[in-house]
Amino acid sequence: MFDEPGFPRDPDDDASAPTLYTFVYCSRAADGVDDAEVDRLIERSQRHNLACGITGVLVFGSGVFFQWIEGPTAEVRKLMASLHGDPRHYDIVSLDQSEEKRERLYPNWQMERVDADDIREVLEDALESAEDQTNIAALTRILDHLATSSLDSLGRAN
Ligand SMILES: Cc1cc2nc3c(=O)[nH]c(=O)nc-3n(C[C@H](O)[C@H](O)[C@H](O)COP(=O)(O)O)c2cc1C
Repeated sequence: MFDEPGFPRDPDDDASAPTLYTFVYCSRAADGVDDAEVDRLIERSQRHNLACGITGVLVFGSGVFFQWIEGPTAEVRKLMASLHGDPRHYDIVSLDQSEEKRERLYPNWQMERVDADDIREVLEDALESAEDQTNIAALTRILDHLATSSLDSLGRAN
């Protein structure tokens, strides 16, 4: 799914396209967050996101989340506030936040479990372009964590 480096964006904003707010971040799963907990989380998220026009993709592997969220500004900002207060993850690094007129990149909610290498690639791209020191430090911590974890620890922060 991450064939292209960085986050692809249509350079030609379409005036007839809806205004979408996009939030892209990665974070580490809290201790005790296992596959069953992530399944519950996805079920609840699918229901809520469908009801308020949010689509996107959530990737979970080796104790790391990566999520792309797009939808109406007010709804996405509300969800961002919930995410920042959710104890099931920490070290939240905002990779992209923007509001623009465009078609949805992920018109259907998707969820994929990927292995550490795929997540590492996405995070390394983000680290290359990161300028904020807090983000650089958190991304470095996440990459260090991935380097020392194995697929056996999938879903667990260790
Ligand atoms: C990694 C992660 C991703 C999440 N993604 C979503 C999501 O896409 N949609 C959603 O409604 N809740 C999502 N949640 C759950 C929210 O953080 C929050 O628990 C939920 O929106 C209920 O919030 P409330 O209790 O403030 O109403 C996610 C939680 C985590 C840890």
